[in-house]
Amino acid sequence: MTVPVVLGKPQPKQKEFMMATARYVAFGGARGGGKSWSVREKAKRLALKWEGIKILIIRKTYTDLRDNHILPLRAELPSELAPYKETDKAFCFRNGSRIKCSYFANDSDALQYQGQEYDVIFLEEATQFSELVFHVLKACLRGANDFPKRMYLTCNPDGIGFLWVKRLFVSRDYLPGENPDDFMFIQSLVDDNEILMRKNPDYVKQLDSLPEGMKERWRYGSWDVAEGQYFAEFRREIHTCEPFIIPKEWRRYISIDYGLDMLAAYWIAVDNSMNCYVYKELCQSDLPISAAAEAINGMRTADENIYCVLAPPDLWNRSQETGKSKALLFQEAGLTLTKSNNDREAGWLAIKELLRQDLEGNSRLHIFKTCTRLIKNLPELLRDPKRPTDTMNEPHDITHSPDALRYFAIYWVSPENNQIIKRVKYRADVLEDYFNATEEERQIIIKKYGGPPEI
Ligand SMILES: Nc1ncnc2c1ncn2[C@@H]1O[C@H](COP(=O)(O)OP(=O)(O)OP(=O)(O)O)[C@@H](O)[C@H]1O
Ligand SMILES: [Mg+2]
Repeated sequence: MTVPVVLGKPQPKQKEFMMATARYVAFGGARGGGKSWSVREKAKRLALKWEGIKILIIRKTYTDLRDNHILPLRAELPSELAPYKETDKAFCFRNGSRIKCSYFANDSDALQYQGQEYDVIFLEEATQFSELVFHVLKACLRGANDFPKRMYLTCNPDGIGFLWVKRLFVSRDYLPGENPDDFMFIQSLVDDNEILMRKNPDYVKQLDSLPEGMKERWRYGSWDVAEGQYFAEFRREIHTCEPFIIPKEWRRYISIDYGLDMLAAYWIAVDNSMNCYVYKELCQSDLPISAAAEAINGMRTADENIYCVLAPPDLWNRSQETGKSKALLFQEAGLTLTKSNNDREAGWLAIKELLRQDLEGNSRLHIFKTCTRLIKNLPELLRDPKRPTDTMNEPHDITHSPDALRYFAIYWVSPENNQIIKRVKYRADVLEDYFNATEEERQIIIKKYGGPPEI
């Protein structure tokens, strides 16, 4: 007995999505564009066409999964053809195909899929997940068969995954090892969902009445600014620069955040006009203190004169067992630390101060493009909804690099720490002295009068 399945009729953008053959296809980018409908429709069609195919549909919460996928699919798929097994949350087709529905309330839920094999994965509302989930799922896309291997992602410009989805599918800013041809984005706005526009015209009015920002994102699919992004002022074109050789007379600092899970260390040089250049990055996990000190010292060049190595004050807490602090252990391992300040709010504000653009569009913080982790993590930080002046501590792995920068920024903006190189106008005799001075004498002059005028 053959059981008829009624297939839906995709609209033009949905058709484009269903025909796409890139390995990773992202769809939507605004509310109501027909994303969830397309996921169900595509999953059904794949299951019918490829006998034995393994499909996974993922949402963030069980309620979303049930309302958008399980209940509609149960209504759309005859139970003789694809009975639903509640214990597995899976539609098991008579032809051997399977659509499993799953939800990841926490990103770490993805880890339970490590080692599993799926031919096609749908990650619904991908921007609600961190990049870790994408990487774990990518590794599940495999199987010794001829079925297509593909991941379909739907998204709105929102949530903790805003930046990685934007980078891969909208900005198309790829890292070594990523193949641009693997990524495709098909935008679909509510205007592309004519059926909804016709049947429910009030929905568009609802989107039109959203507050600015939200309306830009949900109604018009703008990816310019993430909701809740803490450093919304961060712009790659303003705040990053190509590496160059740091002039000898600029004062240099190292600023670290240390934990066994991650050592993040940054080398920062300050020019005579008080611009800060983050010029070297070291991020490594699982380093005991002696190895961390060794790694930092190993990256210092022979002629690199470091003014001080800044670190958070909790490194000075004494261990109950040994009576020694981590700062002391660093010192014993050959790296003397200077205590910075861990006032989070003041620290983040200090970074904002450095990022701020003046009327001519110049800012005081410049990060060498080689410091990839800081450039990635700084704009990823989200505002903590419970304490809007602070950032969220999740996902934790993105916090280490910004924390290290924060220990520098708060130290640096405090007047007693940056006053000595505040520039004063050189008198003619001081300028002459400067030109005739040895390198050592020049340092004394800089200490007294600040850096020389740019020549
Ligand atoms: N091709 C289609 N045929 C019939 N109805 C459709 C079609 N495409 C979308 N719809 C209907 O339009 C409405 C919105 O679609 P859908 O839920 O897929 O949008 P969405 O982009 O997932 O929305 P959201 O951003 O809220 O998650 C739903 O009622 C859906 O059933
Ligand atoms: Mg949806």
